[in-house]
Amino acid sequence: MKALVLAGGIGSRLFPITHTGAKQLIPVANKPVLFYVIETLVDAGVTDIGIVVGGTQAQVREAVGDGSAMGARVTYIYQEEPLGLAHAVLIARDFLGDEDFVMYLGDNFIVGGIDALLRKFHAEGPAAEILLTRVDNPTDFGVAELDAGGQVVRLEEKPKNPASHLAVIGVYLFTPAVHEAIDAIKPSPRGELEIVEAIQWLVNNGYPVGSATVDGYWKDTGTVTDMLEVNRSVLETLEPCTDGKVDEESEIIGRVRIERGAVVSQSRIVGPAVIGAGTVVRSSYIGPSTSIAEDCVIDTSQIEFSIVLNGAAIEGVGPIEGSLIGREAHLTRSCLTPRASHRFLIGDHCKVQVAP
Ligand code: G1P
Repeated sequence: MKALVLAGGIGSRLFPITHTGAKQLIPVANKPVLFYVIETLVDAGVTDIGIVVGGTQAQVREAVGDGSAMGARVTYIYQEEPLGLAHAVLIARDFLGDEDFVMYLGDNFIVGGIDALLRKFHAEGPAAEILLTRVDNPTDFGVAELDAGGQVVRLEEKPKNPASHLAVIGVYLFTPAVHEAIDAIKPSPRGELEIVEAIQWLVNNGYPVGSATVDGYWKDTGTVTDMLEVNRSVLETLEPCTDGKVDEESEIIGRVRIERGAVVSQSRIVGPAVIGAGTVVRSSYIGPSTSIAEDCVIDTSQIEFSIVLNGAAIEGVGPIEGSLIGREAHLTRSCLTPRASHRFLIGDHCKVQVAP
């Protein structure tokens, strides 16, 4: 069995972070979402992994390399334009050959692994198997309608009038029958070859398509709100440790991981939180559900329920909450502006919310 991981796409809901970086590389508890995906596959015994990359391929290649550090063998497949999930399968045809495969969207986060799903697939032998979860907002997803036996009857991508609350999760199992389906479908009105249409083709042509429902934790990390929520949830399971330096005037409470070379002084950190390697935290408060990446400076500031990417500096600013701060971003206090005024140099598509 092989795996096809999709790590192209432009990540428009995470602009401006994704103007300069791949969304699949945004860290959750200081580890890129894509690494959790690869680890989940390797844990399930799937090590031959094709990664479909787009405009951000250089970063993905640099971060993942040949995959050997994670026990995988990675082949990169370049998709010039994001022309749909089924298009990604189409261009990966040589890599996939005639093997069964698991397709995994590189921004999906699932707790609990996929072993049980693979076992069910091998035991029951359908042409395809999809993973579903109950959501409150089905119009944002692919939505499935099932018969009494759990077989898929109908699928619709981002329906206006959803037939159920069962969203298609970004993990799909396929036999080579899917290639015949993809050859038969045409691009949708939004110009994409839709995987749900390929699966629907299988159903319409008499192929068995099974489904499994996950009750465990699942998120598509497509938005800032979802990123922060996944980060919060992963931090809850953090193993506390202090590999950096913490001075006697600092207080560390709860699950906190302080990585190698980090220096914490005169500060209070209330976990769950992670402080990245080489980061300096001085005279500051870091509150629950916060991940600070490597080589950041947090000085005389307060921050919680946030993700700070590497090289960012926050000096004399706070309280900050529910924020995603980009690489090398600088947030400082200005002495040159009138009291209580704000001064910004903000890139395209940024979102700033200041307190009233
Ligand atoms: C994609 C799929 C959709 C699925 C979702 C899960 O949507 O097209 O069917 O429900 O992933 O994450 P996207 O997130 O690309 O809009």
